[in-house]
Amino acid sequence: MNEETRGTLVFDRKKPDTYGDAHPKALLKVIQEDGDYLKPLASQHVVSCDQFDRNKVLQLFRLAAKYESNPERFSSPLQGKVLISAFYEPSTRTRLSFESAWHRLGGDIMSITDRSTTGIAKGERLQDVAEMFNNYGDCVVLRDVRQESVHEMIRSLRIPIINAGNGIDEHPTQALSDLYAIFKWCPGLITGEHAPIRIGIIGRPNKMRTVRSLLKTLAIFPEAFAEVVVIHDSSEEDCFSPDQRQRLEQQGLKISTSTSLDERLPELDVIYINAIAWVGDTYESYGQKFALTADSPLKKDAIILHPLARGDELSPELDGTLHNWYFSQARGAVFMRMALLTCLSQRAERVMDVV
Ligand code: CP
Repeated sequence: MNEETRGTLVFDRKKPDTYGDAHPKALLKVIQEDGDYLKPLASQHVVSCDQFDRNKVLQLFRLAAKYESNPERFSSPLQGKVLISAFYEPSTRTRLSFESAWHRLGGDIMSITDRSTTGIAKGERLQDVAEMFNNYGDCVVLRDVRQESVHEMIRSLRIPIINAGNGIDEHPTQALSDLYAIFKWCPGLITGEHAPIRIGIIGRPNKMRTVRSLLKTLAIFPEAFAEVVVIHDSSEEDCFSPDQRQRLEQQGLKISTSTSLDERLPELDVIYINAIAWVGDTYESYGQKFALTADSPLKKDAIILHPLARGDELSPELDGTLHNWYFSQARGAVFMRMALLTCLSQRAERVMDVV
């Protein structure tokens, strides 16, 4: 028995980074393998969550779960391939998890962490940089403060590029990793055996790329969510981009909004919290009035997700509790990215029949 209850909190004596370990195998049981849905990803650019549909997402999750369940069993499917990892904006998780994923798949990496060390500092156009990338690598992962950069590079790229965060626009692989964590926690949401859940999203859909991409990804599975509660500290008009909410609702998401976190917490099954948006050359904090602590009125079995980096909005007191799925979420992102990179690099067939 690992659990211990103190007040309303359930603590776990295991190390927090081991939470969720048993869960990828459950995904393998509920998603039947069908690699045909992954074939269209070969050599594709990944810019937005709009590019994904139900079957593609589920097959990516299945492949990610295979990697996560048997990390030792896959023999270097990306051997001989080179990743160009170009991060022109700070990152801990995304850069390192992409690079970890590529290394684990047996590939080699060239990494740029500062645009001032490249010809961009001399005024070189991104299209020209992309033209060079075609000669040096097999895949590009790009994070840039500017929304347009990924599109400018695509004009001359002949190798696939993954958007690893473009300003306030999108962060598609983060959202895929978020939903991968939710489905590992509750595979019955995929099969319909579990009743739809309530998810609370603390953040600004019009300013935070993680929130924008997550909402688009949830909208691929609207039947899994009884309600999506967006908890924000702004006016309604300053919360969503024009048409953003309407489009999500047309896809079937049932969205409500609230400016009170504690009022809604007792009914939420999943709480996704984020307080940072990268805007221009710096970051802005939103929702300072919202914080999750050991005193928050959480449901006993609610889970917390956070794309991280963490600020005051998420108390480290919660790290040792069963609510902490944010470390598992960050760990799972490596396997999620391994699955995507394998498909983009046209090597999926090498791992599809390995259980
Ligand atoms: N989740 C995320 O994008 O974190 P980093 O900024 O550390 O990459």
